[in-house]
Amino acid sequence: MDKKNLLVKETPEDAQLDATLRPQRLHEYIGQDKMKENLIVSLEAARKRGEPVDHLLFYGPPGLGKTTISHVIAHEMGVNIRVTSGPAIERAGDLASILTNLQEKDILFIDEIHRLSKVVEEVLYPAMEDYALDIVIGKGPSARTVRLELPKFTIIGATTRVGLLSSPLRDRFGIIHRLEFYDDEALFKIITRAAKVLGLEIDDSASRELSKRSRGTPRIANRLLKRVRDFAQVKHLSDRVTQAIVKDALVMIDIDDEGLDASDRRVLEVIIKKFAGGPVGIETLATALSEDTGTLEDVLEPYLLQKGFLQRTPRGRIVTELGKKYLGK
Ligand code: ADE
Repeated sequence: MDKKNLLVKETPEDAQLDATLRPQRLHEYIGQDKMKENLIVSLEAARKRGEPVDHLLFYGPPGLGKTTISHVIAHEMGVNIRVTSGPAIERAGDLASILTNLQEKDILFIDEIHRLSKVVEEVLYPAMEDYALDIVIGKGPSARTVRLELPKFTIIGATTRVGLLSSPLRDRFGIIHRLEFYDDEALFKIITRAAKVLGLEIDDSASRELSKRSRGTPRIANRLLKRVRDFAQVKHLSDRVTQAIVKDALVMIDIDDEGLDASDRRVLEVIIKKFAGGPVGIETLATALSEDTGTLEDVLEPYLLQKGFLQRTPRGRIVTELGKKYLGK
């Protein structure tokens, strides 16, 4: 399997799979318990007041369910959700046209919100704060600003790079949640649920094995589940997924006991072999790996940090004793 596809890019097929497996309601959404508890309160309060939910910002590594939870919120509130992304909104006029087409209480989901241009951001501020668009009519000395009222709506922003958000933008979100990696138990439940949705028979031991190897990430768990189903049907001529089939399939796609794949291991290996275990600066490391720093920081590093294999220090990245031990296995 192409590793980059697994982690970085979402293919149309993945998006479709995600959509099929995506929970619709809060009670179906597994894990992120603290976030859910807080959301229950925020949604109930908005409902009681008959108002739209406060603007929400979700951040964290890719694949942890920022889009999923946003669709769940729309369902729970019984409102429409419009989906766009930072880079898709090129001009202020693009944003104006989206906003003026919203209905009262609708949700506008902006993925990769850290990639909004400054000009577009400036339009967003009064829109978020006062539900108004300030439009400049005319040019030069005769130019004047007209304020256009907007329906009361909710912006949900999602980002893997909250540090890149300007503080005026971040401050306009009333509710901010960080999505965490999922533990094995939550992933086990997610895999069991997904198998049911797909009409796939899977042993509990097989789901447990998969949950340990999914990098704490539901998107990866669902993708691996599909790959494993293919293996079961083609190589093992079986409609039931067993633990042995999972192990066999994961060897074939080069995912080890910790859920790390070749690119994850390469980060640790390069730091050890080329930089004596570190510390090494992010730019230097990215060059040595032929990755861009964004991919390294957003996609590869978070799980290695979470596992305790890698550490960020003021002088650069280092591989920990635990990381060295893991590689020595
Ligand atoms: N599928 C992907 N993420 C999920 C989650 N958090 N709960 C249930 N199903 C999911």
